Amino acid sequence: MPHWLSTPHWSSDIPLDTPHPRLDALKERGFVRLEDLADPIPESEYLALEYMDWKSGGDTNFAPIATADGELDCRGFWKPGDERPDKGGRFTSNAERCPCIKNYVEAVDADFGRVRVIKLEPQDYDTALSQIHRDDNNRFNPPDQGWVVRSWLELTDNPDSFMVLMEHGDDGLPRRDTEVHVPLHRGSQFVVDTQRLWHVVCHSGSAPRYALISSFESGPVLERWIESRLP
Ligand SMILES: [Fe+2]
Repeated sequence: MPHWLSTPHWSSDIPLDTPHPRLDALKERGFVRLEDLADPIPESEYLALEYMDWKSGGDTNFAPIATADGELDCRGFWKPGDERPDKGGRFTSNAERCPCIKNYVEAVDADFGRVRVIKLEPQDYDTALSQIHRDDNNRFNPPDQGWVVRSWLELTDNPDSFMVLMEHGDDGLPRRDTEVHVPLHRGSQFVVDTQRLWHVVCHSGSAPRYALISSFESGPVLERWIESRLP
């Protein structure tokens, strides 16, 4: 069967093997599901945010909650002449409108970079697969510092929607035989090495789906946070 993507693909050359310290919890599969968040984040926290037009993995808008300089900007960490790794994030004006979300991120206690709420319009499975990609999370991250990974907290309730994850193949494209689905009901929480795994969301609902995505530095603090939330 021919692959549904072709090379060269912009994700294919993003580094995979580097000396950065990694999390044991992600070693085997590249992702880990945590127990569902007990108390849902109130709808008012994510509907009242300021969203920006920014496309990633489909028809998306993003509300930046932490950025490189605290400005409402989706790309701030890689400003020409002021390139920084995706760490040391500073809260934006949006953070004042979502105290529960801000508390959630701070309670992890690990170094965080960009923190954003994603708003994704519905897209079927085939459309999603055409948008699958790997992230460039560790650009400018010194190799002796922890590998940057991402956490998800699902804000809306879409039990029939799911994130598709696949390992990287020798041909530089996602490997279908490694495909897994992570369910996206409200409160679903998981940590993914989105630089290692190809990822995208299939969203079958009729209204947009919202999720909190945060970049965190791998290390003992994040490892302990994950361990304390395993199902
Ligand atoms: Fe991504």
